[in-house]
Amino acid sequence: MPATSLKPPAPDYGMAEHAHRYSRVARLMPLAEWDAHYELVAAIETLKRQRNAVVLAHNYQRPEIFHGVADVQGDSLALARWAARSDADVIVMCGVHFMAETAKLLAPDRIVLLPHAQAGCSLADSITAQDVQALRACHPGVPVVCYVNTSAAVKAASDVCCTSANAVQVVESLGSPEVIFVPDEYLAAHVAERTSVRIIPWRGRCEVHERFTGDEVRDYQRATKAFVLAHPECPQDVQQAADYVGSTSGMIDALQRHRPARAVLITECSMADNVCSAFPETEFVRPCNLCPHMQRITLRNIHDCLENLTPQIDVPHAVAVDARRSVQRMLDLDPTRRS
Ligand code: 13P
Ligand code: SF4
Repeated sequence: MPATSLKPPAPDYGMAEHAHRYSRVARLMPLAEWDAHYELVAAIETLKRQRNAVVLAHNYQRPEIFHGVADVQGDSLALARWAARSDADVIVMCGVHFMAETAKLLAPDRIVLLPHAQAGCSLADSITAQDVQALRACHPGVPVVCYVNTSAAVKAASDVCCTSANAVQVVESLGSPEVIFVPDEYLAAHVAERTSVRIIPWRGRCEVHERFTGDEVRDYQRATKAFVLAHPECPQDVQQAADYVGSTSGMIDALQRHRPARAVLITECSMADNVCSAFPETEFVRPCNLCPHMQRITLRNIHDCLENLTPQIDVPHAVAVDARRSVQRMLDLDPTRRS
């Protein structure tokens, strides 16, 4: 069935399901607030069935999206893998533009929707394909690894893509004594510390993670005795002070292993809201740095994009071929992993 044709209406999203989903956000919001989302959540569920759509949500999405309407939740790598495997006609990417582009590269025959066309990423905007070509000219023969937080054009200009979950593995897979690593300078430093490969970095930064400081982490540790988990997009002094450094899904795995009484996630603050129901014994201390791009996605624009099938993400064929090669090469390194 083509993606634009409607299927019969779904069975109602009833109050029992509403109450079940509320149990996952009950630590965060009063029932009255959850009730205010009910109509839109129910309408989105109906549209999802009519469109044969799947909703993928990054770990930084608002809790009412993450627990209310997402079929799949995860980090960039997990969402890319799901996009590649999904048999849905329509993929709604609740995340930012590069995530929707990656989904389109891996599912080129599906409609990929990004609920807000301006949901971008400061890191992805910090480098162009021309910059990658200039780096290659300065370092002839040195392979280029690009972080998934890049445009399709940058992926096409690179040899292979990586995420924060597999960056070291991807760099080492090239078997080269040196590697150009773009665009995040802090993730590059994180990789450089964990490999003997010489890393040639770019100077890109995430506008959310670069604001954290090592002093802030030490203050949290002193005042709260909390277990501190930081994303590798944070500055190096933050990474050095943290008890664990890893991707958003890596942080969830670390929480599962350590089960701390208190935790601070040094990353986008919706993440703690989304995971807290899975760790009832852990008290989450929340430094609140929000990603303005991730926060552009709302239940209202998810509903509207499913209704109107717009904004759709497309990648020009000339770019898509090489960009897909770069992403696929990463996925082929370990095709069985979900994140
Ligand atoms: P993850 O790949 O760890 O989910 O991170 C994506 C991102 O944009 C972090 O800012
Ligand atoms: Fe980009 Fe930073 Fe937002 Fe992640 S948190 S999407 S890296 S701006």
